[in-house]
Amino acid sequence: MNTSANHNLARPDDDSGPPKLVLAPMEGVIDHVMRGLLTRDGAFDLCVTEFVRITNTLFPASVFHRYCPELAAGGRTRAGTPVHVQLLGADAVLMAENARLAADLGALGIDLNFGCPARTVNRHQGGAVLLEYPERLHRIATTVRSALPGRVPLTAKMRLGFDNTDLALENARALASAGIQWITVHARTRSDGYRPPAYWEWVPRIQAAAGIPVIANGEIWSRADFERCRASTGASGYMLGRGAVARPDLARQIRSATVPAQAGPLTWQQVRPLLRELYDGTVEHTLRTQPRQRAAARVKQWLRYLGSTYPEAAELFHRVKTERSPQRLMQRVAGLSAASNGAHSGALS
Ligand SMILES: Cc1cc2nc3c(=O)[nH]c(=O)nc-3n(C[C@H](O)[C@H](O)[C@H](O)COP(=O)(O)O)c2cc1C
Repeated sequence: MNTSANHNLARPDDDSGPPKLVLAPMEGVIDHVMRGLLTRDGAFDLCVTEFVRITNTLFPASVFHRYCPELAAGGRTRAGTPVHVQLLGADAVLMAENARLAADLGALGIDLNFGCPARTVNRHQGGAVLLEYPERLHRIATTVRSALPGRVPLTAKMRLGFDNTDLALENARALASAGIQWITVHARTRSDGYRPPAYWEWVPRIQAAAGIPVIANGEIWSRADFERCRASTGASGYMLGRGAVARPDLARQIRSATVPAQAGPLTWQQVRPLLRELYDGTVEHTLRTQPRQRAAARVKQWLRYLGSTYPEAAELFHRVKTERSPQRLMQRVAGLSAASNGAHSGALS
């Protein structure tokens, strides 16, 4: 176990070592607009896309560009944080073909999802259900690994099991022996859902069994949580999901433990304008119908997460949650009174 200051969070010199702080994939929450916002301070080493579900086809390039628009910019966010593309599926050959295409399009790494708890996904043998079959995990990882150029890291994200932890170590060994670079462990079973706690004590056991770096994930909402997780896991790295959405500078706060003299925590006044950026970015990049409605839903969703950190966000969410007009919503989010009719007429609320 490594609990001391020598376990520092200094950034690796290049992207080849295991990342220290990773922004979690979160379908429907952390898309590329959100990745851009949450990595802007440079505190994350890596992010991972929402899962691309591989069912029965080799997707066209456009699909990968939709999930990972950063492919057009060298596979990195605006701030330069690398983005890995996550694939979910059960067909080893199709997974490999799609992974190869993503790599050819410039993906800087491929991550395999063995943790998704969704019933539809599990019914089709994708996500966490595969944790029942270590040999299938191994086959998928081996097949994908052999299809990828050596320079492209392959990683996997797993839960502790489907409805118990009996196969946790075997699954980790099955993945490691397939030649993957590191495993991210969301330290709960599929049956645990997202209910606290996360069983961090499994992380060092898995790291010892697998013999490759392990990234610990689950229930890190604050720097204090991080310190406790680090003390009980001594993991190679840490992945932040909902905590990073709720506290957009969580990674920076964690880093400031080892990199002093960083700015203080973000205030609500500093966070509030980011909601506008989320809105504008979503409108700009939504190809489907009703981009403003979708963007407004995203803003409400983020406000809800932010409410657990900022009482002002909770209060604002409460006031705007039934607002149907995207334009009025954004006026209120900007602090312009709901009654005002244009950008210049509002009193600050
Ligand atoms: C809304 C939502 C969407 C998620 N989507 C994904 C996903 O696409 N791929 C994945 O591997 N995990 C996904 N997860 C799991 C998270 O990456 C992470 O493992 C989990 O939230 C625990 O970490 P946290 O406690 O820091 O949030 C999702 C979680 C949530 C809440």
